[in-house]
Amino acid sequence: MLDALPLSRKQLRSVVQASARINLWHGAVRSGKTIASLLAWLLAVAEAPPSGLILVVGRSLQTIERNVFEPLADPALFGPVAAQVRHTRGATTATVLGRTGHLIGAADARAEGRLRGLTASLAYVDEATLLPEGFWVQLLARLSVPGARLLATTNMPPRHPFTDRPRPVRHHRNGALISTLIGGRGPMRKAIDRASGNGRKSSIPAGPVESAPWSALSGEAEYRAALAEAFAGVELGEYDRRIIEWVAGWDSPTVATLASLVIRARKAGGAL
Ligand SMILES: Nc1ncnc2c1ncn2[C@@H]1O[C@H](COP(=O)(O)OP(=O)(O)OP(=O)(O)O)[C@@H](O)[C@H]1O
Ligand SMILES: [Mg+2]
Repeated sequence: MLDALPLSRKQLRSVVQASARINLWHGAVRSGKTIASLLAWLLAVAEAPPSGLILVVGRSLQTIERNVFEPLADPALFGPVAAQVRHTRGATTATVLGRTGHLIGAADARAEGRLRGLTASLAYVDEATLLPEGFWVQLLARLSVPGARLLATTNMPPRHPFTDRPRPVRHHRNGALISTLIGGRGPMRKAIDRASGNGRKSSIPAGPVESAPWSALSGEAEYRAALAEAFAGVELGEYDRRIIEWVAGWDSPTVATLASLVIRARKAGGAL
């Protein structure tokens, strides 16, 4: 596949780095976001947890077909993998590497109802900033399988409603996620910083945590490092490691607070 489509260095880096819970491809028009994100998504489908649905979301079925399934099914782009992507025009499901993908058009707020009650493990979102905010809240809540991930492309317009209202539902867990996602210090910013090599030191809260520490940690590598720091020197069993790995699949407030609690508890007990 890589021979068929030589990715640019930036595209390749974006694919390799797309290991977070939420991964956004953001950049100039026609800069290769969709192709890079689709490759990352194919890799994600290949290793998606067996439980939970695989969703493909866009503004309408037609835009999903045009932007996602046409390129995926093009052997000139994706080589032999293209034959493993099957979609019939107008159908609301597709088969990708043997897994079923569910296509969901989200043109208006009512589309949110299509997500209710389902559990998803992986979502691909075409043009994220075109989706209604309520749909986002619901979509992020639905990605509840441990290790669930979202991959999305966006051409963030300068006056998108999310950026005009950077903290729409601050105390709602997913709402806060959305605001940090799109806001100036959110994962989108961090993803851009990471891609350009501007790393940032992680910080586990040292004292009592009074509000969700959204910006304490960024990305699963930092989540793992924080947990490793919290449990440093503790003898771990196989199942301990599995649970720590599972916790590392959550978000910054969960992981940073847990790591902080463990470190403070160890300090209180005189272990540190
Ligand atoms: N590595 C590559 N090598 C050659 N062609 C590429 C490569 N990546 C993308 N392209 C082609 O460049 C064009 C733009 O790519 P793509 O659709 O991924 O960009 P985009 O950033 O998603 O664009 P848009 O802003 O329109 O959403 C497409 O025709 C695609 O097939
Ligand atoms: Mg695109």
